[in-house]
Amino acid sequence: AADAVESLVRSKPDAVLGLATGSSPLRVYDELVRRHRESGLSFARARAFMLDEYVGLAAGHPQRYRNVIEEEFAGRVDFAAGAVQGPDGNAVDLPGACAAYEAAIVGAGGVDLQLLGIGTDGHIAFNEPGSSLASRTRIKTLTAQTREDNARFFDDDIEQVPQHCLTQGLATIMSAGHLVLLATGKGKAEAVHQLVEGPVSALWPATIMQMHPHATVLVDDAAASRLQLAGYYRQTYLSKP
Ligand code: GLP
Repeated sequence: AADAVESLVRSKPDAVLGLATGSSPLRVYDELVRRHRESGLSFARARAFMLDEYVGLAAGHPQRYRNVIEEEFAGRVDFAAGAVQGPDGNAVDLPGACAAYEAAIVGAGGVDLQLLGIGTDGHIAFNEPGSSLASRTRIKTLTAQTREDNARFFDDDIEQVPQHCLTQGLATIMSAGHLVLLATGKGKAEAVHQLVEGPVSALWPATIMQMHPHATVLVDDAAASRLQLAGYYRQTYLSKP
């Protein structure tokens, strides 16, 4: 994943990156920070758009995604001030903020490379099961499962996890040039199976990625453990022309 980001940014210094929160991309961010420090990989001309944001977390809340991304990645490399944007979960006019966010992405020329994780229920960004496959940035209600999964970031207290979020829609994500999804651990095995091999369905929102012309799914053995055609994928990878 870091190789994909690096080769994009080196060939197109003003590239537009799509950044994901959650634990899955953390090692990618660490690796990009290392390359920034040790081999001069620069994000000085790049811009970035985040996938999603909780609604109603105070500006200084450590779990506000804008703060998380600053801490985990943006603040550790050399993005210019204001180059990293996220949907504004504290806007008075939330639908207006969503429309403005869509316009900002289009105005930047679109996302070149979008990093993604996946929820155990198959969500990408915060597009929960049932999300329209044609959706754009909007407000969503988090499922009990997602709030439970994310409670570990809120003192293991589900009550502290917000009920609502703003999220790029599935069509917004599908507009990016290259999708790079990361998944590790057994808890993601069913979602990865559905994503790669299941029928395209709003019930497993990540399945829309099957319609994308350039999608990369990076998994460890545990996350790959339910893939029906794993042997074929390994063979394909090993004998790649
Ligand atoms: C959250 C985020 C998603 C992320 C998912 C999985 O719900 N909104 O973008 O993919 O969590 O998180 P993790 O990578 O921590 O398993």
